[in-house]
Amino acid sequence: MHIPITKPVFGAEEREAVLRPLETGWVVQGPFVAEFEGKFRAFSGADHAVAASSCTTAMHIAVAALGLKPGDEVIVPAFTWVSTPNVVEYMHARPVFCDVDLDTFNLNLEHAASLVTSRTVGILPVHLFGLCADMDGVLDLARRHGLWVVEDAACGFNAWYKGRHAGVFGDAGCFSFHPRKAITTGEGGMITTANAELAGRSRSLRDHGASRSDLARHTASAAFLLADYDQLGFNFRMTDLQAAVGCAQMDRAPWIGVERTRVAREYDRALADLAWLALPRVPDGYAHGYQAYVCLFQPEPPSLDNVDRLHAWRNRLMTRLEERGIATRQGTHAPVLQGFYRTKYGFAPADFPHATIADRLSLALPLYPGMTGEEQAYVVTELRQACDATR
Ligand SMILES: Cc1ncc(COP(=O)(O)O)c(C=O)c1O
Repeated sequence: MHIPITKPVFGAEEREAVLRPLETGWVVQGPFVAEFEGKFRAFSGADHAVAASSCTTAMHIAVAALGLKPGDEVIVPAFTWVSTPNVVEYMHARPVFCDVDLDTFNLNLEHAASLVTSRTVGILPVHLFGLCADMDGVLDLARRHGLWVVEDAACGFNAWYKGRHAGVFGDAGCFSFHPRKAITTGEGGMITTANAELAGRSRSLRDHGASRSDLARHTASAAFLLADYDQLGFNFRMTDLQAAVGCAQMDRAPWIGVERTRVAREYDRALADLAWLALPRVPDGYAHGYQAYVCLFQPEPPSLDNVDRLHAWRNRLMTRLEERGIATRQGTHAPVLQGFYRTKYGFAPADFPHATIADRLSLALPLYPGMTGEEQAYVVTELRQACDATR
């Protein structure tokens, strides 16, 4: 049996959708991007949605639109995809890394509070793997110090906190439509915000800083007049080919959500008795989106003293599963341990013990809509044997 880590869901709807811009000939950002944004607004409850070419570019736009400047500091978790701190670096500002809680993999608020300085301007909390960060705590910290909040909701599709969808809490939220995410457009991203002015600035920044979109220009009289370009922008636009696929994905989003939860619940049930594997915890008031089902490998209580030995053991376990056709992955990585950040800031694993442990010992299990009972039973059976067998 071959069990991939995930599988995007594509059917006749996506195939038909992608033909429509090909038939009209309008393939760049246009009517399908607008339709996709509308569907995303309806699903998330966000007031404004601005599509971009990825979550990374969405975050880049958001921090630029908020006026991030050289010398500013932004608090980011130390266990996240590298693009979260990267967007701060692109603006020549400084990402200030905060350790995470091992039971949620999200930002530790006490540590975050201790990192605020007179140069701190914002917080970039991450809703990792589909579990929201503690947004009451984040917003409280932000309010006390006058900071903006941009939610890295790359994994946050169908992630809910106290009944509200990820991406509606901060000044802006940014989503990813990479194929590892719940819905996909190949590559793609979305900015959500309740702030009309920020939405407008974001629309302009994604399009070279233009005062109006190409579609608006081409569908008005005097289409020969170019827009004005009064601010430095980017080409971070989503294409209509991608957005057409995104519209079809949005139509199946409720089913995708139900399926992801179904598979996660079955893992919860079937693996609950394994002391060596900490399963994803969902605190009261949270609904997990299960972008990924990420566990912590802990055959012994993990610490910096045993993490390298346990890491080697976890990798033997993952190799054994791979040999049996089962793909697993580490949850994500700790950018602080990656060459760019290690070299630039001189970080060592002991600076961020939980992020280091999460980096070395996290274990994502296969999860995709339509995963059959037989496939999941095979994963469970093999996984249950794998710890002892690779000791
Ligand atoms: C937490 C987090 N932030 C940002 C990103 C970047 O998303 P994208 O690939 O759409 O730029 C990812 C992607 O994996 C992610 O997991």
